[in-house]
Amino acid sequence: MKKILTVFGTRPEAIKMCPLINEIKTRESMVVKVCVTAQHREMLDQVLKVFNIVPDYDLNIMRDRQDLFDITINILDGIKRVLIVEKPDIVLVHGDTSTAFATALACFYLQIPVGHVEAGLRTYNIYSPFPEEFNREVISIVSKYNFAPTELAKNNLLKEGRDANSIYVTGNTVIDAMKCTVDSNYTHPELEWVGEDKLIFITAHRRENLGKPMHSMFRAIRRVLDEHDDCKAIYPIHMNPAVREAAESELSGCDKIHLIEPIDVFDCHNFEARSFLCLTDSGGIQEECPSYGVPVLVMRDTTERPEGIEAGTLKLVGTEEEKIYRMFKKLLENEEEYQKMSRACNPYGDGNSSIRIADILEGKEYNPWRPLKA
Ligand code: UD1
Ligand code: UDP
Repeated sequence: MKKILTVFGTRPEAIKMCPLINEIKTRESMVVKVCVTAQHREMLDQVLKVFNIVPDYDLNIMRDRQDLFDITINILDGIKRVLIVEKPDIVLVHGDTSTAFATALACFYLQIPVGHVEAGLRTYNIYSPFPEEFNREVISIVSKYNFAPTELAKNNLLKEGRDANSIYVTGNTVIDAMKCTVDSNYTHPELEWVGEDKLIFITAHRRENLGKPMHSMFRAIRRVLDEHDDCKAIYPIHMNPAVREAAESELSGCDKIHLIEPIDVFDCHNFEARSFLCLTDSGGIQEECPSYGVPVLVMRDTTERPEGIEAGTLKLVGTEEEKIYRMFKKLLENEEEYQKMSRACNPYGDGNSSIRIADILEGKEYNPWRPLKA
């Protein structure tokens, strides 16, 4: 029996790993163990609850205002024991967080094979996003299995000299997750507050945006909201205290915006699906909103998800106040501009990525065109 150990620690990793864990559980030739680092605490637990997953190990490392040293040191310290006790055949990590990086490093030290889910995303700017671009490039060096969501991600890995036999295009497991969250009958008191107005959905948290850029982003948003009577914004604030301080100082007291606690993934996907427009610096939301045809203004200078930019549903607007103000205002006032961006596009697969990855882990022949569940 092949033993798979999955290790993750933050909200987005959990959202994209839980469907895969639940798929592996259905396979008779594999056993799956779950270790959470709890780099996030409350925001991770929200996801585990939705997907009904109880971890076998919980390193519980989160500290208030942790820095990159705290996270990396505490994970390396905790994961070593788990790896030595469990002796997994393969360790699965996801994406580009410090949890994924530190776990891959620990596996390298112990010479345990790594499978990288969502491999091959790149901006090729090591400082943007920071430290995620470094994390994912390093994980690719040590991974035995690279599960790339798109052909573009696969080509990045090939350009870097990664073994073609280690790369599988599987789609993104976020689409698997969306299959069990989006509900056409969904209602929520916050959506009732928005009523017939346009819903603007906002999130922000990137480390490189903390401080001045984040204040500029929020000032731009507030100016536009103050000038438009037909829209209301919902912003579930990330639990990072530095984000909260910026959001509260720039946005509190504005009756057009509700600053709320992080919502669970079920609520989040349904809020996104009903939005008119999203403003975010999140990675995952850039993958989700295009599926619903919801335009996204990406408040970052770079993106590792060019698929949505090419399709026209995402626009990079940076973090300067004037540029965000102009672009946001334009999409509210210019129907033609809005329609150009508002088209459904899903470059991330058919929602069967977990099945493909589980097949590959079981050693079944890899055939990306094999028809799967509808
Ligand atoms: C991390 C990831 C980032 C990912 C993001 C998803 C790294 C370096 N960064 O960044 O790639 O996009 O998660 O959201 O791996 N906090 C809580 N409760 C929680 C979660 C966070 O209180 O449930 C607070 C804590 O004070 C914590 C701080 O937020 O110290 C920052 O968390 P951290 O994981 O260091 O950084 P993120 O910005 O969340
Ligand atoms: N999300 C959520 N609740 C929220 C905000 C976001 O469940 O209040 C989900 C969102 O749907 C997406 C993921 O969290 O799947 C994105 O996480 P985040 O923006 O924290 O990280 P990133 O994707 O930038 O790494």
